[in-house]
Amino acid sequence: MDKTSLPPLLFNGADQPESSSISRRSLFVAAGAAGISAAASVMMPDRAQAQSTDWTQPGNNNHVLALQETKDFASGPVKFEYFGHCALKITSPGGASILFDPWRDDPSGAWGLWFRQKFPEAVVDITMSTHTHFDHDAIDRPVSTMVLDRMAGQFGFADLKITGFADKHACLAPGWYKWTDALKEFGAEACPPNNVGHMDMVTYLVETGGVRTLIWGDNRPDPAPGFWESVGRVDVLTLPVDGSQHILSYDQGNAIVEKLKPKIVIPTHYLSETTTYTLSTLQPADEWVKSQKSFKMLDSPTLTLAAADIAGRDREFNYFGSHALTA
Ligand SMILES: [Fe+2]
Ligand SMILES: [Fe+2]
Repeated sequence: MDKTSLPPLLFNGADQPESSSISRRSLFVAAGAAGISAAASVMMPDRAQAQSTDWTQPGNNNHVLALQETKDFASGPVKFEYFGHCALKITSPGGASILFDPWRDDPSGAWGLWFRQKFPEAVVDITMSTHTHFDHDAIDRPVSTMVLDRMAGQFGFADLKITGFADKHACLAPGWYKWTDALKEFGAEACPPNNVGHMDMVTYLVETGGVRTLIWGDNRPDPAPGFWESVGRVDVLTLPVDGSQHILSYDQGNAIVEKLKPKIVIPTHYLSETTTYTLSTLQPADEWVKSQKSFKMLDSPTLTLAAADIAGRDREFNYFGSHALTA
């Protein structure tokens, strides 16, 4: 097998019912693990397949229509609800909601069982994903009127403004588990500029209720030149740092916090006993949180922040710990 050649594959959905949930990463892993010749046996280039099952979802767009018709939105706090891992729902003061990075297990099985259940069928107006890795891209699971997958540029709706900054995934695992070496073993490049496509990333800045929230995703610690200036002020920052230092190390996370000086830091991408299995190789983020000057161990999966209330805070870590919404 030529490990440097991993062409895209087409699956016959009629024979492979699970194909609707196969991600770009899974295709890569499946091709690498099973071999191109085996994978080629399911190539059906003459069959078009509907990949999305969103048409089966309950509900409709009545809430989005109501928001669309609203002229003046109430001021008030911004609500954050944590679904474990990097899945965070933000609800604007006017009631518009976005869910970032719903998770799932890798459908190829190559990366093992990470999650204890299927992602809840959360009802939201907008679902967004930062990148195509399985632990961020279950965009079919939320009951969502809109899906904005890997959106670069600007989007405005109701009292929300979202800016997507295209960048790259962290490509050198800083912890003991060198998961980025697996890409090398399959002949794929993890690092830019010739990285495999699933190592592309988008980070999102959400502006609502006077609060600017940066969703870091799994972005590299040293983004492209101009990134910091483009992002500007950040009030709430999510960062993927866990005890195994799977995506970012403690030092890399701390350096980003020092650079952006957010008022609030929300750790993500860590082992939560509510949602995540030990097989993920992740660890809790407690050690990192407790090493900070200012931190708060939250007692629920919900956090409400008003611009005026957080104005005086400085790099305060707000840690959801094992609290996560499961329905
Ligand atoms: Fe990732
Ligand atoms: Fe991830």
